[in-house]
This record gives sequence, structure tokens and C-alpha cells, in this order.
Amino acid sequence: MLLDAKTFMLSTEEDTRHLAEKFSDLLRPGDCVLLSGDIGSGKSYFCRSLIQHRFGLLIDVPSPTFTIVQTYDHPNGDIWHCDLYRLGGVHEIIELGLQAAFETVICLIEWPDRLGPLEPANPIRLTLNAGVDHHIASVEGPKEFVAQLGDI
Ligand SMILES: Nc1ncnc2c1ncn2[C@@H]1O[C@H](COP(=O)(O)OP(=O)(O)OP(=O)(O)O)[C@@H](O)[C@H]1O
Ligand SMILES: [Mg+2]
Repeated sequence: MLLDAKTFMLSTEEDTRHLAEKFSDLLRPGDCVLLSGDIGSGKSYFCRSLIQHRFGLLIDVPSPTFTIVQTYDHPNGDIWHCDLYRLGGVHEIIELGLQAAFETVICLIEWPDRLGPLEPANPIRLTLNAGVDHHIASVEGPKEFVAQLGDI
């Protein structure tokens, strides 16, 4: 698969929300977004914005820090929002049914380094970096997906 990469400067939370809304419109069941970046770099903020774009601003999107997985059912594709920071080991990925989910739903995964060898094929990688006065988002993924992001 041909890959491409693109970088976005996110000066405000509103910029992050716009990028997340673009993702929300483009993602299809079977797509998996791996979100990397330090604690507090905006991974959960991005996921919350993406989910609220599909489900409405009133939907509660808690951080899955303790539950590991939060699921959202939608006729155009369910979303699984995962935070693997507290994962006990790779065996839990299998117990949670994550491997099957990679194939059938839209997966948003914070702390994807915890997946080890079970990382899904052809993921979309989003890396967030929080600077002093802005955040930087780096996207790497299938060429067609990156091209459709356009500018925010
Ligand atoms: N441009 C921006 N984009 C995203 N978040 C921003 C931005 N500027 C400020 N913030 C703030 O930064 C915080 C990011 O917190 P968030 O919980 O999303 O981080 P996280 O990467 O999920 O952390 P963790 O690794 O603990 O899960 C939020 O409080 C958000 O309001
Ligand atoms: Mg988070």
C-alpha cells in the first residue's frame, strides 16, 4: 500500500476539532487510527471531537483510561475508543476482542505502542506534539486517505 504523510499546525483547540471532524467524515469500518504523543498532547481531545462530530455534541465521551475500551454504536460504522496505557499485557488485547474489532469497526487507539506485535495492518498514524503555543499533528497513512484530508 502506498503511504503518504502530512503535518498540521494546530494553534487552537478549534483547529484540532476541525482535523478530527475531517477524520470523522473519512473513516470507514475497518479503519484504525493509532494516536501517539505524550500525556496531555490532545489524543483524547481529538477522539472526543471526532466522536461528537458523528454522534452530536451532547454525547458524553469519557477518557477510556480505566475502562480501556469505550464503544459507540452507529449505523454507518461503530467506533471503539481505546486507551491502552493501563493494559496488563498483550493477552488482554485478545480478551477484549480488539483484533476482531480492527476488521469490523472504526478503532481509535491511544498508546498503540502497547499493541506490540498485534498492531493492525495499514493503520493511520496520528502523532500529536504539544509545543509552548501550538500543537503539531503528524499524519501518516494510506496515500488516498492523507490526500483527502486537504487543509484544515
Ligand atoms: N491545540 C490543542 N489540541 C488539543 N488539545 C489542546 C490544544 N490546546 C490545548 N489543549 C488541551 O490539552 C489537553 C489535552 O488533554 P487530553 O486528555 O486530550 O490528552 P491525552 O493526549 O489524551 O493524554 P493521556 O495520554 O493522559 O491520555 C486538553 O485539556 C485540551 O483542552
Ligand atoms: Mg487520553
